[in-house]
Amino acid sequence: MKDKFAREISYLRISITEKCNLRCTYCVGDAPAAAQADGGDSAAPAPAQVDGGDSAAPARSDGGGELTLAEIVEITEAAAELGVRKVRITGGEPLVRPDVAEICERLHAIPGIEELTLTTNGIFLKDYAGKLKAAGVSRLNISLDTLKEEKYRQITRCGSLKDVLEGMKAARDAGLLPLKINVVLLKGFNDDEIVSFVELTRREPVEVRFIELMPIGAGIGRAEQYLPGEEVLRKVPELTRQGVSGVACLYRLADGLGQVGLIRPVSSHFCAACNRIRLTSDGHLRPCLHSPEEIDIRYLHGEALREAIREAVLSKPMEHVDFTGGKVSKAARNMNQIGG
Ligand code: 5AD
Ligand code: SF4
Repeated sequence: MKDKFAREISYLRISITEKCNLRCTYCVGDAPAAAQADGGDSAAPAPAQVDGGDSAAPARSDGGGELTLAEIVEITEAAAELGVRKVRITGGEPLVRPDVAEICERLHAIPGIEELTLTTNGIFLKDYAGKLKAAGVSRLNISLDTLKEEKYRQITRCGSLKDVLEGMKAARDAGLLPLKINVVLLKGFNDDEIVSFVELTRREPVEVRFIELMPIGAGIGRAEQYLPGEEVLRKVPELTRQGVSGVACLYRLADGLGQVGLIRPVSSHFCAACNRIRLTSDGHLRPCLHSPEEIDIRYLHGEALREAIREAVLSKPMEHVDFTGGKVSKAARNMNQIGG
């Protein structure tokens, strides 16, 4: 499927739930529990607690809650007929959904779907890595912003780094390779760990992807925490440029087994390389992460469904709003609702 700007759109990101077992400060925000649409108790989070945490987003009248397994399959089949070849499962945290392995298995079996991947915070991965591999997932992106236990609890408000590290080991053992680690750059929080993260790529065939903090959802109003991707190259000047992979610029240490990716949605527009559309967990297609436009495709079938998907592709904007000068995303949803 080509959009208006001749970009080939072949990648669908599916958020299967907006619930998350963590509450990363820049993602779900820290509004008082009373302000939370889902009644979650943000003041006293516990690791087992799972809620939408959509405090910073406007109230929505989506009606039906999460898409069912059958609905996700039907939409993905229609998208595959139209040329989608790659699917990524996101959340919230996709592993909090009990039928995640079944969803993966069904999507993997759809003719035309050539690659199935998943983004997770890794907390539940120990129990799921083998099942995901068996269900046809080829590799994972793991969100991890610090390598220190104390700081991990601070940024996630409730998670344990030990669980993530065990989950990563389970993923390696299951052959979900290469592992990619997503690190959101946060000034005053993990700038002192950039070197440690890069060092991981010397010893292991992992791809560490540094992502600039975007002014979206709970990331709005955190300009003082923004750190440009260039900081990684300043801290580790021996990184050499390898090329481009999707929205990431890739670098490598001369003797490194892995790679370093820089994803710079704020300091450098990569919209020209955008090949994706997103499906929210309540059945809305989003042509662009940073635009408020959504197309409700729940309850559409057959040609009407395909037509709506084509419409979403054709309404992709050329590029998202420029974030310089304090401008922010027009997304109108938090990242846990869109899936990153
Ligand atoms: N800016 C950049 N990345 C973000 N994520 C969540 N909120 C933001 C933000 N404001 C990331 C998570 C995860 C991915 C799904 O999106 O850390 O890696
Ligand atoms: Fe959950 Fe990911 Fe958001 Fe953290 S960044 S709260 S793990 S969805």
